[in-house]
Amino acid sequence: MLSFIIITVACALACNADPIAPLQGSFNKYFIYSRQFTRDPVELDAANVTASIEALSIDRNTTIIVHGHEGSGTTSLNPTVKDAALESEDMNVIVVDWSVYAGQSYSNAVGAVPSVGTALARLIQQLIDQSVVTLDTLHLIGFDLGAHVVGFTGRALDGKVARITGLNPSGQQWGTNSRRLSLNDALYVEVIHTDGIGLLAYGVGDAIGHVDFYPNGGTGQPGCLFNNKCAHNRAWELMAASLTHNLLIGNRCGNWHQVSVNACRGYQLTMGNNDHVKLGSGMFRVNTRRTYPFA
Ligand SMILES: *[C@@H]1O[C@H](CO)[C@@H](O)[C@H](O)[C@H]1NC(C)=O
Ligand SMILES: *[C@@H]1O[C@H](CO)[C@@H](O)[C@H](O)[C@H]1NC(C)=O
Repeated sequence: MLSFIIITVACALACNADPIAPLQGSFNKYFIYSRQFTRDPVELDAANVTASIEALSIDRNTTIIVHGHEGSGTTSLNPTVKDAALESEDMNVIVVDWSVYAGQSYSNAVGAVPSVGTALARLIQQLIDQSVVTLDTLHLIGFDLGAHVVGFTGRALDGKVARITGLNPSGQQWGTNSRRLSLNDALYVEVIHTDGIGLLAYGVGDAIGHVDFYPNGGTGQPGCLFNNKCAHNRAWELMAASLTHNLLIGNRCGNWHQVSVNACRGYQLTMGNNDHVKLGSGMFRVNTRRTYPFA
């Protein structure tokens, strides 16, 4: 009996990883937006990218947005961050919809993350081959489990994507997971932690990027009293505000204590936005207001 359980558990861990993996990512859907298509996106078929390639332009930067658990292509961060991105600049925005798996239990969604991320990498490689996207103008934005999805995407592209932004990357089952989003996944990895501290936190508290921003100390966002979900979602609300206003400025912190007691006095760095390169590294605290544009 015990050995049966051990085999079952071992299989749940190992069998989950690869054989099923390509299947999960094959359920991804991709939607192209630009200033030409702000409301009615063009669906990009991974099996035939040439059919919709004309909706993309090599003369624009490209931003790809990936939702998290329980999200979809039209909910959670997508409408808000997509509109903010297009307001800031005419770019190619590709929204990834992996709701077939994101809509399942948290554990199932976690199990799909590697496959969803590598399928996205294969799509990007096709777009590079078609000369409509380049790695040095590419910014991947992922929220919640989507932050780890884009980590897998970046790794599959040899860490050569210009920028990844992780918006409160999920903490549960990733706290000690070596495959979570890391600074090796893109040339510049920025992480915004809005709900990363405490037992009920949705996010990772550890500094895992080149630059880690801790708005208001990385927990208990203004206007989100005792509401972790509210603080979790604040990560993409702040990202959207940074794209439209770019007024969220952090100070570098020497250590974790300074982050938590609001004693960061180091050099300043602007949080969020679409800069592909930022001159800074380490932990930064930014203090925000409770409503848009939060500065
Ligand atoms: C891809 O899409 C184009 C345009 O819709 C179509 O003409 C072509 O036959 C498709 N190719 C494949 C392999 O389905
Ligand atoms: C692409 O993004 C970079 C970095 O933010 C910016 O300097 C550049 O102007 C953008 N290019 C276009 C075509 O908007």
